[in-house]
Order: sequence, then structure tokens, then C-alpha cells
Amino acid sequence: MQNRSAILLVGGRGTRLAPLTNNTPKPMLQVAGVPFTEHQIIKARDAGISEIVLATSFKAELFEPYFGDGTDFGISIKYAVEEVALGTGGAISNAAQALSGTGPVAIFNGDVLSGHDLGAQFDFHEAKGADVTLFLTEVEDARAFGAVELDESGRVSAFNEKMENPPTNIINAGCYIFNREIISTIPFGKVVSVERETFPNLLATGARVFGFIDTSYWLDIGTPSALLKASRDLVLATGKEFMALEGSKISSSASITGGTVIGRSAQIAADAQISGCVIGDGAVIGAGARLTDCFVAEGFEVPTQVISFDNYFGF
Ligand code: GTP
Repeated sequence: MQNRSAILLVGGRGTRLAPLTNNTPKPMLQVAGVPFTEHQIIKARDAGISEIVLATSFKAELFEPYFGDGTDFGISIKYAVEEVALGTGGAISNAAQALSGTGPVAIFNGDVLSGHDLGAQFDFHEAKGADVTLFLTEVEDARAFGAVELDESGRVSAFNEKMENPPTNIINAGCYIFNREIISTIPFGKVVSVERETFPNLLATGARVFGFIDTSYWLDIGTPSALLKASRDLVLATGKEFMALEGSKISSSASITGGTVIGRSAQIAADAQISGCVIGDGAVIGAGARLTDCFVAEGFEVPTQVISFDNYFGF
């Protein structure tokens, strides 16, 4: 087995997550108490990946103070900053310069929470002698994704990026394995979309592109409701109704349920009822407030008796 490296694409603008992404890049938004990116870094480390490059652009300066050189996370972390966002393909080509190994590279979209077996995807890639292996999953409605067609051997025969009538419901699930030689065919320093340019070009030139189907938990966290779901699902998976971070104070008469996260040093007053929410660090929820599926920004004070559903406070 060659050494395994990874690139994490975390430079997008995250427009669908506004207003949450006005000041924080999507991958640094908190999910179950830590920046979303941390969940992916841990997944990469646990699959035997020894080095990862974060391909940053929007609010690039916010990543390194948190992740540093990766020592605290048990993996070597480097940064490749795009002054001007280079698109998903341009970002891969740019970030690959910072990798030291020579083995295949896992490339993660920075906004996918998935339980797929990354180690098995690497093994599949090697067993097939693939140039590129796409992790694929199945969805009911493929219109917002890249729908992929496969032949009997699992080789990708067509890649249809976001279309009205997708031919299959098997989609590109946002985690690829690329051999180094293939990365070096992506133009360097130019804006390139891996979905719209690189994949169709690879198919047109006869590259060995395979699809690895895994239908375990998968979620694109690109919208506020999906981000909230990701956080709730991770908390509920621990068997608890909520997660209270360090220094938070919760009145004994408050009810906290549905996978809620109570941020560091946040305060929840008497009789508050909070379900399925993400409450930011230092936020204060007034007595008797009833919040369902809401985001409350860091330090924001929600007045007493407020009743709200599916809402944002303080962004
Ligand atoms: P929206 O603006 O809401 O569509 O989100 P986005 O900007 O994140 O775009 P999209 O969801 O299509 O991006 C998929 C992944 O690629 C995300 O993890 C992005 O952070 C990342 N990404 C998108 N464009 C770039 C880019 O130009 N450079 C880098 N480094 N990453 C990018």
C-alpha cells in the first residue's frame, strides 16, 4: 500500500448558507460542537491518511489558527490558499503542490457528512487499477447533483452535472480518489470545475474512471436545514437528546431535546424549551422561550417568552 494523502476543498463562498456564512466559511460552521471540517479530518485520519491539504480561499485566514499543523488531530495539515478562488478543479491542482507523498489522493468536498467506508474506496480504487474513483450514493431526486452512469464493471460511462431529467439517481457524492498523474493533467493556476470540465474530459480521453457505490449515511450540508440536520443527527447518534459544551448553564426547569447543541458558556433560563437547535457560544436564551430548529449566533440574547420555529437569531 502506498501512503495515502488528501485534499479538502474548503474555499467556496457558501452562498446557500447565508446568513450563517456571512462571516464564517461553511466548513468552519459548528456541527455537533466542532467546525464541520474537523469531522472530515478525523474521518481521513481514521482511514489511514497521513497528510491533508486544506484548499482555502473565502476567509482562508480562519482555518490555520484552529487546525494548526494538525498535531492536535493526529494528522499533518497544510494549507493552500487561493487569492482568487480557482474552482474545484483549480483548487485540486493548486493544493496538490503542497503534498509530499506520491500515492493516490482522496479529495473531499468540504460540505459532505458521510459514513461511507473511505478505506474500502481506496482498496476498490487500487483493485480496479483506476485513474480516478468517485464515491457515489443514491438519492431520490438527483436534479441538484451530478448523475453518474456506470457500465457492468463499475466503470463510469457518463457524467451528467445538474440537469432537469437526470438519467439515474446515482450521484457524485463528493469524495474522489485521484492518481497523481491525473491531477497533473488539470491546468494549474486557472479556474477549473472538476465536475463540469475535468470529469467529462477524463471520460472523453478514455481514462479509467470508476464508481464506488456506498449507500450509508450521506448528507450535503450546503443549506441551513441540512446543516442543522447534520448537527442533530451527530448528537442523537450519541444516544443523548442534547450536547452541552463547556461552561454552559442550563436551568433545571428547561427542556432541551432533539439533538440540540448548547454552546460554550451559553445560558438557558428557566422553563425554556429548545428542540433541534444550535445555540452559539455565550448566547443567552430567556425564560420561557420556545425555539425549534433555530440557529442562535454567538453571544446573542433571545428575549424571554419568544416562540420561534426554523429561524436565525443574530446573524
Ligand atoms: P454555494 O455557494 O452555496 O453553492 O456553496 P460552495 O461555494 O461551497 O459551492 P459548492 O457547494 O459547489 O462547493 C463544493 C465544495 O467545493 C465545497 O466544499 C466548497 O468549499 C469547495 N469549493 C467550491 N469552489 C471552490 C474554490 O474555488 N476553491 C476551493 N478551494 N474550494 C472550492
